[in-house]
Parts: sequence; C-alpha cells; structure tokens
Amino acid sequence: MQTLTVGLSERSYPIHIGTGLLANMELLTAHLPGKRVAIVTNTTVAPLYLEKLQQTLQEMGVHSMPIVLPDGEVYKTADTLNTIYDALLTHRCERSTPLIALGGGVIGDMTGFAAATYLRGVPFIQIPTTLLSQVDSSVGGKTGINHPLGKNMIGAFYQPRLVLADISTLDTLPDNELSAGLAEVIKYGLIRDLPFLEWLEQNMDKLLARDTEALQYAVLRSCQHKAEVVAADERESGERALLNLGHTFGHAIESGMGYGNWLHGEAVAAGTVMAADLSQRMGWISAQDVARIRTLFQRANLPVVAPDLGVEKYLDYMGHDKKVEGGKMRFVLLKQVGQAVLKGDVPSALLQQTLEACV
Ligand code: NAD
Ligand code: GLY
Repeated sequence: MQTLTVGLSERSYPIHIGTGLLANMELLTAHLPGKRVAIVTNTTVAPLYLEKLQQTLQEMGVHSMPIVLPDGEVYKTADTLNTIYDALLTHRCERSTPLIALGGGVIGDMTGFAAATYLRGVPFIQIPTTLLSQVDSSVGGKTGINHPLGKNMIGAFYQPRLVLADISTLDTLPDNELSAGLAEVIKYGLIRDLPFLEWLEQNMDKLLARDTEALQYAVLRSCQHKAEVVAADERESGERALLNLGHTFGHAIESGMGYGNWLHGEAVAAGTVMAADLSQRMGWISAQDVARIRTLFQRANLPVVAPDLGVEKYLDYMGHDKKVEGGKMRFVLLKQVGQAVLKGDVPSALLQQTLEACV
C-alpha cells in the first residue's frame, strides 16, 4: 500500500492506495470517532462491496447504516440528494456520524455534498471504486449534483477526512468505465507531466489488461498530481482550473446528449481532442501533437470525435461553464504537450473553426 497526503493544514488527509483495503480495519479506525456510520452506495456497487465493508466495520464494533441509491449520472439530482437527507434524518444520524461514499464519482460527489450540508457538515470518507473516482473525483473536495441547465452546477468544496482507493475493486469494473477513468489519467500527463504521458503510451496495453502494478502506479501518479494541485489552489482560483482540460467541451457534450448517455470520461476524451485542436489553431501545438493525443485516447478505447450537437448548442452549453468569468468563456489549452494554460480571450473565429472541424 502507498500513502499520500493532501496538504491542507488542519484539514489535511491521507489517500491510501493498494489492494484489499476494504478489509483493512486499521486504516478506518483513526477516522471513526463514534460507533456508527452511514454508507452511501448504489444498486450496482452494493451487491459487490457493501457486505465486505460492513463486515470490516462490524469487526471494529462500528454499526453501519447503508443508503442504497439508484445507479447513474441521471440520478445525480436534488431529488436523490433528498433521499440521503431523508434516511439520515429518519435514522437520527448526528453530527458525529460520518458518511462513507462507496462507489464511483456520482456517489462520491453526492455523498460529499450531503456530508457538507447535513447538520451543516458531518465527517466524510471516500471509498472510490471506479478508476475515474480513484484518480480524480475522490480527491480534492469538489462535491455536488447536476442541474438541468448544467453539470455539477450546485455543490460545495468539502474535503474528505480519508480516501481509500482499493485497486482490487477495479476487477469488476466494466471495460468502458475503465477507459473512462483512463481519460482523466491521460489528462494529468497532458497538462503537467510529459514523462508520465510517455509512460502511459508505453503501458496502455497493461492498463487495459488490468495489470495491478500498472494500475496502482497510474492511480498513485494521478493522485500525486491531484493532491499537489489541490494543496496549492483548493478553491480553483488559478492552477486547479487546469485540471479541467477538455471539460468545457466535455460538459457541453454530456449536457447536450443528456446526462448518462456519454460517460464523463468519454466526453472528456472527445473534449480534450477539441481542446488540442483549438490549441493548434492558437499556434501552440503541432498537427502531429494533436494526432499523438488522438491516438492515445483511441488506444484507451475512448471516443475522439464529438457528437454533432450543432455549433450554437455547443456555444450555449459552454456559456454555462463554471470557468466563465465576466460573461467570457475561458478554456484550458495546451501551450505544449505536458503544459496547460488557462486562456480567456480565445478568438471566436478559431473556436468556431474547432467546433466546425471536430463535430
Ligand atoms: P459512476 O459513479 O457513474 O460509476 C460508473 C459506473 O460504474 C456506475 O454504473 C457504477 O455503479 C459502476 N461501478 C462503480 N464501481 C464499480 C465497481 N468496482 N465494479 C463495477 N461497477 C462499478 O461514474 P464515475 O466515472 O466514477 O464518475 C463520474 C462522475 O464523477 C461524474 O458525475 C463527474 O461529474 C464526477 N466527477 C467529479 C470530479 C470531482 O472532482 N468531484 C472529478 C471528475 C468527475
Ligand atoms: N476534477 C477537477 C477538479 O477536481 O478540480
């Protein structure tokens, strides 16, 4: 097992990465002050891992109350959030009762927001079970739900007390979900770590074959980047925005296609190819660089062509992006492969060309 720390002064917390962690009592002990926890999970993950986690807690003398939600991005809503509050209130959960998120990013984001708001804040633990949630969403404290007018538009920054990334849980992940997670892994290479990008190019087949060592290294390296960025810019006033490479286009794809029809990671992959195209039009990266990026996503079995929503619809959805400032869109682009920048004044003609060329 390897352990990293997200350095946020008194709110610092560990990320443990390894195999068989769900059965490891010691890792949880220090973070469970009382004898009760609520576990939020979904109908897919519960039959796979809930019993194991409950058993570990039981052995520690901790009683756990499961809250099992329907599965899917389409349920990342205020209505589902309310069912979490209903269960917590019905069972008289107190301020000292931690909420454990057991699942992917949808469960993690919703549980985190419930933890941030229930009784104005209760302890929160992340046990991410998808590659995407292990490398990205479980770390950094972005929590929330979708709104019909935009993805993740309602939420809070609320850090977990602990992240347990059990690589063994990836054994049961569907292939397309593994690929979706790889989109966010590739992202770290593109924005800030060229050697890691090269490592991914060399090890993509091992990752797709779920080689434990390769997966653990990819999760570790990704979490190191995420932890560094979050420690430097928790509330996204600068550097953290770079983690959104491909997300401005990607969120437009997700919203425009209807939540859940494109996986988040799939939309990020196609969106990153669009961001690369725009970076080339800005005169920063070469056509070969764009081809290299497209090839890596293709090798990870990810889509590289965005759906044709029409230019107007893209512009409309991108206008709701959280990076919009003073009514102006801002894009994360590549100054070079391995170095991202946030750019505010992208000429609209170039954006128009990218949208026309890529969809
Ligand atoms: P997800 O949570 O929908 O999980 C994907 C699917 O895999 C679901 O059907 C889930 O039930 C299933 N699943 C989970 N673990 C499994 C396992 N071990 N075995 C088999 N099936 C399993 O999707 P995701 O890709 O994990 O997360 C996407 C969400 O994360 C989006 O809502 C996105 O907005 C959010 N996100 C948040 C952040 C952040 O910083 N908070 C960052 C990136 C993405
Ligand atoms: N997933 C982007 C961030 O956490 O900032």
